[in-house]
Amino acid sequence: MPTVDHTPARLVVLVSGSGTNLQALLDACEDPAFGAKVVAVGADRFDVEGLARAERAGIPTFVKQLSQHDSRDAWDLALRRAVAGFEPDLVVLAGFMKLVSADFLEAFEHRVVNTHPALSPSFPGVRGPADALEYGVKVTGCTLFVVDAGVDTGQIIAQSVVEVLDDDTVESLHERIKVAERAMLVDAVGRMCREGWSVEGRRVRIG
Ligand code: GRF
Repeated sequence: MPTVDHTPARLVVLVSGSGTNLQALLDACEDPAFGAKVVAVGADRFDVEGLARAERAGIPTFVKQLSQHDSRDAWDLALRRAVAGFEPDLVVLAGFMKLVSADFLEAFEHRVVNTHPALSPSFPGVRGPADALEYGVKVTGCTLFVVDAGVDTGQIIAQSVVEVLDDDTVESLHERIKVAERAMLVDAVGRMCREGWSVEGRRVRIG
């Protein structure tokens, strides 16, 4: 079972984009009572706002771009080594748009978590808000899960429900989901870091 070996717990956050989920974690970590600190932020591309947010907060960053490596395995190994160098208790994929390998997940077993802007197991993949809107569901939301080999299929840590409004567009719905997603992420990551967590079969228990 994963253990939290540091106080405060060490978070490595991986991003690909605007990094509002990262920002929510950075803000929460300012309170010592939160029990965690972001020790590094990694990305799979340069020039993203997520990296700029980390730099403004004085947090070390690294970029591992797939195109700069000979193979996907080489990229994944470089990413794994960079993450491992920061000795994370928890690796948070916060809008990170690449799949990591089984070797990566084994290196940080049950310590890699991801947020998805839909209520798993519905609407996996990159079109979560669009697929929910198209299907016509009346509620959707977000899911924090332990990453496994599938796409958005890992054990569920936390979920939050968001109502779909009649006039929603994909953008308006995703923006409202992101508000719920940030709150869910901060709450669950904080509790995991302060209380620990265990994974048994499909069930995740915090504390
Ligand atoms: C989030 O909704 C995340 O779940 C999805 O992309 C969005 C990333 O937002 N995969 P941000 O980069 O944290 O602002």
